[in-house]
Amino acid sequence: MPGIIVMGAQWGDEGKGKATDQIAERVDYCVRYSGGNNAGHTVVVGDDKFVMHLLPAGILNPNSTAVLGNGVVIDLDVFHSELDALIERGVEVPHPLISANAHIITPYHQTIDRVTERFLGKRRIGTTGRGIGPAYSDKINRIGIRVQDLFDESILRQKVEAALERKNQTLVKIYNRRAIDAEQIIEGLLAHAERLHGHVVDTSRLLNSALDEGKVVLFEGAQAHHLDIDFGTYPYVTSSSPIAGGACTGTGVGPTRIDRVIGIAKAYTTRVGEGPFPTELLDADGEMLRQAGGEFGATTGRPRRCGWFDALVVEQAVSVNATTDLFLTKLDVLTGIERIPVCVAYEVDGERTDVMPLTQSQFHHAKPVYEYLEGWTEDISGARTLSDLPSACRAYVDRLEELVGCRISGIGVGPGREQSVAIHDLID
Ligand code: GDP
Ligand code: IMO
Ligand code: MG
Repeated sequence: MPGIIVMGAQWGDEGKGKATDQIAERVDYCVRYSGGNNAGHTVVVGDDKFVMHLLPAGILNPNSTAVLGNGVVIDLDVFHSELDALIERGVEVPHPLISANAHIITPYHQTIDRVTERFLGKRRIGTTGRGIGPAYSDKINRIGIRVQDLFDESILRQKVEAALERKNQTLVKIYNRRAIDAEQIIEGLLAHAERLHGHVVDTSRLLNSALDEGKVVLFEGAQAHHLDIDFGTYPYVTSSSPIAGGACTGTGVGPTRIDRVIGIAKAYTTRVGEGPFPTELLDADGEMLRQAGGEFGATTGRPRRCGWFDALVVEQAVSVNATTDLFLTKLDVLTGIERIPVCVAYEVDGERTDVMPLTQSQFHHAKPVYEYLEGWTEDISGARTLSDLPSACRAYVDRLEELVGCRISGIGVGPGREQSVAIHDLID
């Protein structure tokens, strides 16, 4: 079973870091394939909490090699500072590898991210402000800066100057900001070149050879299906492809090499930033989930919007990503709720639908239709097998499985590494 994808099935922060950590010990390569340091993946080991923004969460396992694929956008300051911070904390960090084709997030991408959000006002996306969208736009516009450009100063110079020529016009004339000095940007980038050299390899060739040898490669998704540029709630999405297909384009590994797609879903739903969210709770129940689940962003610290489990949201992710398994996290957070609402359909402009509607306008009008499942009061944080769970809790899991059409192979019952119920092996 060598090619495994872990990806978010809702709007992010499902617990991908924890799920990755569950299997990282048995993995040879842990690879990020999309996004950048807009991610925040938490792993809790004993009393220690680690939050990885750019590096894959699997880096905590000294036996696996961390890789940033070509689909990732890299802020080089973050790459080095995250690595240094781990080393300072005594983590044995194996030498991470980077694709020569990955694009770089420069300070001008961050500036543009922030000024465009401000300019949008009420229509803002609520981005993380890390320069992600502008870096991916430059990639698609063919004016991006790639990691390999750092090793050819004259090419780097030409590219930065060409990119800034247009951007400075926009910054000065439209946004009323100061022009950005190309020389300063070039110097900042070149300062990273030497230290980066030993990390840059042909990651596609490396991963394909590893798979040929039967090694286990874990593709760690950031963000989630509903933040995907094609399948998410556009335009309230990120600018990359967090879906399972993105693992192929984002690393240079063909689809036939993927054996398992593990979707991560919370036992309820959260979202950060703007955009539609049919089961969102703006009342005391929402606040209760936020407090009980510690729902504050791992990257920006923003309070996460909270709501009940939406089966239509996860069902679409199951379908588009052909998930073979789901890992259901944070079931412990629902303990103590007498009757737990689960969204099983929407009412859209007077009509009922059992699947996500076709258009953005319909989704904005969607009103959740709830089924109420019996809750439980027992503390489940110590459960390790299905039989340790109270029967109402098992019935909740069974019903979700039925609604979304994918088996649940593991359940999170607390943030700790050991706080999981194993149902089916996630690797074999
Ligand atoms: P990611 O971005 O998908 O990796 O998720 P985040 O790390 O942003 O957010 C998930 C949060 O939930 C983190 O604080 C985790 O420590 C925590 N967490 C993960 N799984 C569980 C679980 O099963 N129960 C509880 N109570 N917390 C969990
Ligand atoms: P992980 O990997 C939750 C959201 C932002 C915003 C939108 C676009 O931890 O699950 P961007 O900065 O990417 O252009 O912002 O996407 N977003 C996330 N929400 N978890 C994430 O990552 C996210 N990464 C981006 O809040 O709404
Ligand atoms: Mg997160």
